[in-house]
This record gives sequence, C-alpha cells and structure tokens, in this order.
Amino acid sequence: MEFKKQLKNYQNIINEELEKYLRKQECPEKQLNDAVEYSLMAGGKRLRPTLVIAVYKLFKTDIQTCMPYAVAIEMVHNFSLIHDDLPGIDNDDFRHGKPTNHKQFNEATAILAGDSLLNQAYITIAEDINREKDITNITKKAKIFEEFAKAVDRMIAGEHIDTECEGKQISDDCLEYIHKNKTAALLTLCVRMGAILAEVTEVELRKLTNYAEKIGLAFQIKDDILSVEGNEKILGKPVGNDARLKKVTYVSKYGLEGAKRILEEITEEAINELKEYGEKAEFLKELAIYIKNRNK
Ligand code: IPE
Ligand code: IPE
Ligand code: MG
Ligand code: MG
Repeated sequence: MEFKKQLKNYQNIINEELEKYLRKQECPEKQLNDAVEYSLMAGGKRLRPTLVIAVYKLFKTDIQTCMPYAVAIEMVHNFSLIHDDLPGIDNDDFRHGKPTNHKQFNEATAILAGDSLLNQAYITIAEDINREKDITNITKKAKIFEEFAKAVDRMIAGEHIDTECEGKQISDDCLEYIHKNKTAALLTLCVRMGAILAEVTEVELRKLTNYAEKIGLAFQIKDDILSVEGNEKILGKPVGNDARLKKVTYVSKYGLEGAKRILEEITEEAINELKEYGEKAEFLKELAIYIKNRNK
C-alpha cells in the first residue's frame, strides 16, 4: 500500500481506539474530561502509536496485542504537549490550529488534564498486564511497563533542561542531550515496545533501537527547522516561538543549512539500519523520509 494511504489507515485505527478510552459521562469533573478529549482528539499525526504498530507488524499480524501500548503512548504524548504549551514552559497559544488547552479551558484544568492523561496511560497498560494469563507475557509486559515509565521520565528531564537552558550558551553534547530526552526517548520507546511485544531477538532489538534513536533526533531537528521556516497555518502551532524564548536548537547552533544537513545525514543512517528487512520495512523507511520532509 502507498505510504500516505497506509499512514492514514493507521491514524484511523488509532483514532477509533482512542475514542473508546474517553470518559464521556456527566460528572463533577466533566470539564477535566472535556479538556483531556479536547487535546487527545485535536488532530495529532499519531506518529508514536503508528510506530508501535508498524514495528510490531514487521513480525506479527495480530495488532490488537499492541493497541493498549499505542493508546498509552499517545496519551503521554498529549500530556507532554499540554504541559509544554503552559505559560511556565513555552507559553504558546495555539496547537493543532486551535487554542492551547490552557487557553481553551484554564491553567489549572490544563495542568490537571495533562496529569490525568499521564495517569490514564499507566492505567491502560496496567489493565492490559492484569488481563494477561500467560506468565511469560506478564513478565514481558511488566518489562515494557518499566521501560515506558523510564522513557516518560527522560522526556520530563529533557523538558526541564530545555527550559533551564533558554538564553544560555550550551555545548553540542548538551543540545543533543535535550533532544534525545525531550523527544527521542518517547519515539524510541514506541519502536522498542512494538519490537518487544513481537518477541524479536536482542540483535534485532538493537538494530531497531538504532533506527528509532535516529528518527527520534531527526524528528526534533525538523521541529526546530519548522519553528523557523514552517507555515503557521499548515503547522497549526506558532512559528518563531523557539527564537522568542531564546531556545537552543539545531538551527540556533548550526544555522538553518547546518541543521538541514545533519537531518539528511541522520535520516540516511536511520534507513541504513533497516537494510536487512528489505521490502518488509518499506513503511518504516518511508516514515523516516516523511519525518524529514514533513511540513506539519
Ligand atoms: C510535537 O510532536 C512535539 C515534539 C516532540 C516536537 P508531533 O508533531 O508528533 O505532535 P502531533 O501530535 O502530531 O501534533
Ligand atoms: C517538544 O518540545 C517536546 C515535548 C513536548 C515533550 P517543543 O516545545 O520543541 O515542541 P513544540 O514545537 O512546542 O511542538
Ligand atoms: Mg518546549
Ligand atoms: Mg513547545
């Protein structure tokens, strides 16, 4: 299937699945639930859950096995976006072409909607583990749970350093550290979850992790580039916000052309990691190229 069609197909599957997890009942905390739904269903690209499923599908076909993990990572991702936009972090007013969560609701609700999404992610995984009867699968999924929590912890640490470094001179290594943690950690987790659920060998897991770390870094470099030369209408979020906040980015450090060159190199390295899978990994190769070329 053509890449764009396949991606759309995954996005539809994920959106349908996420719908099942929304809390729609009338209750005192209805506004909190509405705020969760507002961000979760705002039109994200669903790249993280797509990665979980696409990697799993390299080896196995019963994708229902990975749906709780695909849902959980999208919940965490949206938690990270809501908090990232808060006045105390990036102070942004628009995302997905709509007011950010704190602008649409209020700051307290946005903070708590983020907390709620994080917690719902853990509940989703814990419930899946508790439904499991097979002891080998329980052990495997408990291992994923630990990796999941640790990757979220890396993302939070990355966000912290990202905000602390605003306006400062930092080393190349420090910049790489920020991007690897705030963004690549979750993307890497997605690939690893798909692979571990599919019971790949250690050698395969290493290769796929290398691919993931590279597209993870590439993803944030492209985000840095789009923050300079993106089209706000297409992007659905502000352009120029990194410069406004004096963020250290691949563009501020290496210039626009330098950042683009690094992005090209890393994308090529990522694709090379998939060589031995041949045709089977076509979607993952195309995904790396999509990350490099995307305009939103
Ligand atoms: C935006 O991620 C935040 C970063 C890690 C750069 P995405 O661009 O994947 O967000 P959505 O969900 O598709 O809007
Ligand atoms: C993305 O940070 C990382 C997380 C949200 C964890 P950015 O601040 O660079 O992303 P955008 O540009 O707001 O989406
Ligand atoms: Mg940020
Ligand atoms: Mg931001």
